Amino acid sequence: MSALKITGGYKLKGELSISGAKNAILPILAAALINSGISIIENSPHLADVEIMLDILISIGCKASLKNNTITIDSSEISSTELPGDLVQKMRASIVIMGALLGRFGEVKISYPGGCEIGLRPIDLHLKAFKQMGAEIHEIVHGYITCKANKLMGSEISLDYPSVGATENIMLAACFAEGVTTITNAAKEPEIEDLQEFLRKLGVRIKGAGSSTITIYGLNKRKGNISTQTNTFKKEICHKVIPDRIVAGTYLLAGAITGGTLTLTNVNPAHLSSVIYKLRDTTTEILIKNNSIKLKAPAHLKNIELVRTLPYPGFPTDMQPQLISMLSVAEGTSIIVETVFENRYRHVDQLIRMGAEILINDRTAVIKGVKRLSGADLTAHDLRGGAALVLAGLCADGETIINGIEYIDRGYESIENQLSSLGAVINRIN
Ligand code: UD1
Repeated sequence: MSALKITGGYKLKGELSISGAKNAILPILAAALINSGISIIENSPHLADVEIMLDILISIGCKASLKNNTITIDSSEISSTELPGDLVQKMRASIVIMGALLGRFGEVKISYPGGCEIGLRPIDLHLKAFKQMGAEIHEIVHGYITCKANKLMGSEISLDYPSVGATENIMLAACFAEGVTTITNAAKEPEIEDLQEFLRKLGVRIKGAGSSTITIYGLNKRKGNISTQTNTFKKEICHKVIPDRIVAGTYLLAGAITGGTLTLTNVNPAHLSSVIYKLRDTTTEILIKNNSIKLKAPAHLKNIELVRTLPYPGFPTDMQPQLISMLSVAEGTSIIVETVFENRYRHVDQLIRMGAEILINDRTAVIKGVKRLSGADLTAHDLRGGAALVLAGLCADGETIINGIEYIDRGYESIENQLSSLGAVINRIN
């Protein structure tokens, strides 16, 4: 198993271009199943999760290739609506394939999805919506679910929580429904808007993504099943995925924690408003110019009184672990409340081993800033928690080893090369 070895204490400086967004490309790859033509997806990041998604699509009959940063998918001949359990178990985002297959073929069989263990992560909101649209759902042995519908009906769906995955799943299924589907209390994340863009290119009439109400005018396209494969959307479309706001946010915090000066290019600063707002509270200087963000960190970061993670446009839960690392070395005491996932403090015991002073009480973390962290032998337990450990290692005294980096590879394209290009001393070792 490989690990990351970091020698801390080097200020980051330079320029970095940000890759395409993992959380945008995964649902867009699922949406490519709706197209029985060719979908060309540009600005694809090279990530383990993208590879898993492609493997799943290939396993049910898609032809897919990845060249440089462009994925080409031909979903014209799907051979199965049963998703391979071992691959689905590896990645929660695979659940979004459900809506696409249910819509196009009226049936899907899937096992409960896996992914990072950052909470219970149920799929009740997804299933409730499909039922409301007329699907019959059966849970069968070994954690498999089958979902069938002769016809999906447009519905008024009011989500109990603005779940990102449930919003995307409903959007995909609704493309094929008879009549109009309205999702209220929909997730407003930029990745949902990107999915809407992709669907529009395919000819779907859809509006409202980015707001809390999304309307999809179903085309009642599905007349065939898996054997006839008739009457689906069929076009050659090309779509460029939006930049990854969480990767950008992570590198901004890496700059801040090391007292560095850096410029990120190919970013959408508007997607990072809540992160930039909090960074400015620490007296970090941020300069925004079109698609770039310049950061100049102070010698000593100031604390942040309170941060609550919230659905977009609130502070992202996916940036919470990295923020804790940064606040561990800020002056004074900071408080973070994690409201989205109930088990997202698994990196904290590792930070404490480095000398951080953090108290966790249920969903609240109280962080008393210390002057220095010390390098240690650590293990990542999830994707963003792993990134948080990298940040801590960058500013710690001495050497830090991070095991479990397969989690980090799920969401960061060769993180060691990116950080090395900014002057960090970090290597992948075996
Ligand atoms: C997506 C992101 C993930 C991010 C999360 C929240 C992708 C691929 N992943 O995950 O990086 O951390 O949004 O911004 O885009 N919930 C239920 N029932 C459901 C669905 C969700 O109770 O049926 C709960 C979850 O347990 C969690 C909360 O809702 O507490 C948010 O989950 P959700 O927005 O669905 O996150 P994901 O789509 O899994």
